[in-house]
This record gives sequence, C-alpha cells and structure tokens, in this order.
Amino acid sequence: MQSTHARISYKDKSKFYKELHSEASGILEKEWFVNLANISALLNQHLPDINWVGFYLLHNNELLLSSFQGLPACTRIAMGKGVCGAAAQTLQTQLVPNVDEFPGHIVCDAASKSEIVIPLIHEGKLLGVLDIDAPILNRFDHEDKSGVEKLVDILVKSTVWPTNFLS
Ligand code: SME
Repeated sequence: MQSTHARISYKDKSKFYKELHSEASGILEKEWFVNLANISALLNQHLPDINWVGFYLLHNNELLLSSFQGLPACTRIAMGKGVCGAAAQTLQTQLVPNVDEFPGHIVCDAASKSEIVIPLIHEGKLLGVLDIDAPILNRFDHEDKSGVEKLVDILVKSTVWPTNFLS
C-alpha cells in the first residue's frame, strides 16, 4: 500500500468525500480488525477539527470499544445510552450539534462539543457504531452525514465480519 501524508482538501466537501472514499477503498482488506484500525486512522488523518474517532462493536448486547484515534475512552456503552447507544438502538445516524443538549450524552473527552454516530449494519444486523467527536459546536452537517455514511457502507460491504463473537 502506498500512503500519502497529505491531507485531502476539505474546501469542497463533495470532492473531499469522493477522494476519501477512494482512499478507503484502496486500503481495505477483508479482515475486520485491520479495516477498523485503518479507517479510524484515515478519518483522523483527513477530517479537520475532530478530537476523537473510532468504533464500538456490539458484543453481548452492549457496545464495546474497538479501534480508535484519540484519548482513551469509555469501554462499555449500554444499548440506548448516550449518542452511541441511541444510534445502536434506533439504527439511525445521530447528528448532534451540541452534546450538552443531548439527553444522556456520555462524556469521554471533555473537549467534545459536537458529535456524529453512524450505525454499522450488515445483512440487517447491527455490528456496532462509528463515533466522531469534535471540539467545536455544529461541526457536522448533512454533507458530512452522507459522506461518512457512504464510507461506512463501503467498509461494511468490503469486510468479512465474524460470526463467532459479535452478537
Ligand atoms: N459521547 C459518546 C460516548 C463515546 S465517546 O464520545 C468516545 C456517547 O454519548 O455515546
């Protein structure tokens, strides 16, 4: 794999997400743990103004911390709790402009001010969530939402998911 250290320009978001999707496709393998590690690193490399990005995976009906970039974080999140638990329970992306106004928001990094959480769904079943936190209010808009949802779609479809420990 040839990787570049240059950040993709974020000036034109539609171009940004096209390039991000193409870089992601270029580094994806079939093994899930490789892909979660590299996709969290890719997002951390290219998305400006974020302080945490990573995955929680569904295991024994709770969300468990997996690959991420940022400060050490809460390890377990119950279904329905916080922004991650809400995304997991509703199977809908949660776009939160101000985390202080989200009932039950879980503080992992006190710097976080806004957040987006996207559920990972494979063959109708929840695998986990992708969580991205920002140190500024209103960091994510609907273009970010569709760009990151498409990235998650590429990730989910290109990966072989385990059946033996994810529940
Ligand atoms: N804020 C999240 C918890 C995870 S951390 O932000 C990494 C939530 O409310 O679910």
